[in-house]
Amino acid sequence: ATGLQNPSATALQKSGTVQATKELTILFGSQTGNSQGLAEEISEKLKNMEYQVTLTPMNEFKVKDLKKLTLLLIIVSTHGEGDPPDTALPFYEFLQSHRAPKLNDLHFSVLALGDSSYEFFCQTGKQLDERLEELGAKRLSPRVDCDLDYDEPAAQWFEDVAQSLKKMVEAASGESAGEGAFVSAVPSSTPEQLKYSRTNPFRAEILENINLNGRGSNKETRHLELSLEGSNFQFEPGDSIGIYPENDEELVHLIIKELQLDPNESVPINNQGEVRSLLEALKNHYEITVLSKPLLEKASKFNEKLQAFIESEEDVRDYLKGRDLLDLARDFSSWNISAVELVGILRKMPARLYSIASSYQSNPDEVHLTIGTVRYEANGRKRNGVCSVHCAEKGKHGEFLSIYVQKNPNFRLPSDPDTPIIMIGPGTGVAPFRSFLEEREEIEAKGKSWLFFGDQHFVTDFLYQVEWQRWLKNGVLTNMDVAFSRDTEKKVYVQHRMLEKSREIYNWLEEGAHVYVCGDEKNMAKDVNSTLLEILEKEGGMSSEAASAYLADMQQEKRYQRDVY
Ligand code: 2AM
Repeated sequence: ATGLQNPSATALQKSGTVQATKELTILFGSQTGNSQGLAEEISEKLKNMEYQVTLTPMNEFKVKDLKKLTLLLIIVSTHGEGDPPDTALPFYEFLQSHRAPKLNDLHFSVLALGDSSYEFFCQTGKQLDERLEELGAKRLSPRVDCDLDYDEPAAQWFEDVAQSLKKMVEAASGESAGEGAFVSAVPSSTPEQLKYSRTNPFRAEILENINLNGRGSNKETRHLELSLEGSNFQFEPGDSIGIYPENDEELVHLIIKELQLDPNESVPINNQGEVRSLLEALKNHYEITVLSKPLLEKASKFNEKLQAFIESEEDVRDYLKGRDLLDLARDFSSWNISAVELVGILRKMPARLYSIASSYQSNPDEVHLTIGTVRYEANGRKRNGVCSVHCAEKGKHGEFLSIYVQKNPNFRLPSDPDTPIIMIGPGTGVAPFRSFLEEREEIEAKGKSWLFFGDQHFVTDFLYQVEWQRWLKNGVLTNMDVAFSRDTEKKVYVQHRMLEKSREIYNWLEEGAHVYVCGDEKNMAKDVNSTLLEILEKEGGMSSEAASAYLADMQQEKRYQRDVY
């Protein structure tokens, strides 16, 4: 709360222009859409409080305008190993560079989103926050770092920011408005109570649930069809569906037993006073399958052995890997924790996002998903991916899933249907491209299209084979190249196929094709990126710097988009 003694407020007081302090910019950097959703919400609230809000994604912000800003809110997520979202990268790099200007007249606050089970939690938000201070800007209110369950801390951050802004405006205008003035400006209820959203998910009936892999495959990839009737959901190709899964009931029982708790005891499920039984809370409302360093630290208050372990261990990350709450409960027996204290240290159950595999234009009453079922063994026990196994097993016709639509403006078909598209999606990464082609067929788009698909075996793992073949035949799909990695002695991946067609890919790029990559981030998307650079160097005669600049330009123009995880 340094907001009171701020130089710009006094300056404004002298000139008498209160209006100026009410001009505010919100910049967001979003990977999956959470930061964007929050930024939009906060923008609406501030507009209702009569602020003149400019809401801009970081990739559309002109960095030379930074100097002109007086009030700035930043909402930014971190993904992978501490990386900024693709769309935040140019802004982030500019700010870190020596070209960044002094910002002595700027007041700001940062809301950082992240996942505390990763080492570099909220790293991008932390770095932007520190750098803005270094450049001379003052904090309106301290940065808040949010975990996956960001709703409550984000709301608190906004309240602090709003209080601080209010004080600035008052100081500038010399008036002291009554408490009520500010509060009443915030609408207390939204007009559309029945709108389904992330915080009010829709119960979608499962219409179809089939295993796309053949007998003998190493994989189980589920094709789900869900009914959207009554939801009012609309979506575009590139969007995702968020699913709230349930934890395995047997696992919940084992944890409760290990901690010697009563499954029927009432515990809170939010800070609005709602309660459920411990059993229900652990099954539906809290995360019990991922351990994080902050969780271990909180848990150690209720267990001396764990406390000693944390103190003796240099890095607890090795222990966290592949373990869940049951492992923790068993490995450090003799707990002294109550049911309420237990849920007090857990994260809320986060939704899992899956790229939509169908087109709203061609089928508005349904949404289709392609979900890889995750089952593995670790530390002596069988483990399940919470959401994928829930979907695979709950999948019978007539059952329901809690879902919402997550917009993804960073993964969009070209607005011109004549523009060529190149789609690279091995494994479940192919999902959004089924929606792309369904959409392009429906709107009778004329643009060329090219799909690169890969998986382990041709016979068992050629997801949606019949559909691609139909689209190849009717011209919706122009080219398709496949890479089955385990049918030959030497592995072939999508990027090898791309390299074989480097001349043609280069020609498509020069014609203005958009390139889309979906699927595994760590290995595949990285290798595909290097291959694109290699193609530019080889076919375009570019230096490696020129090739990088070419791809960066494509990214800037939204011609190179990725949906990677
Ligand atoms: P693999 O499992 O045989 O290694 C979808 O999962 C496909 O992506 C599989 O064929 C898988 O091959 C392949 N794959 C694994 N690593 C990859 C990488 N770095 N680049 C491209 N494809 C990869």
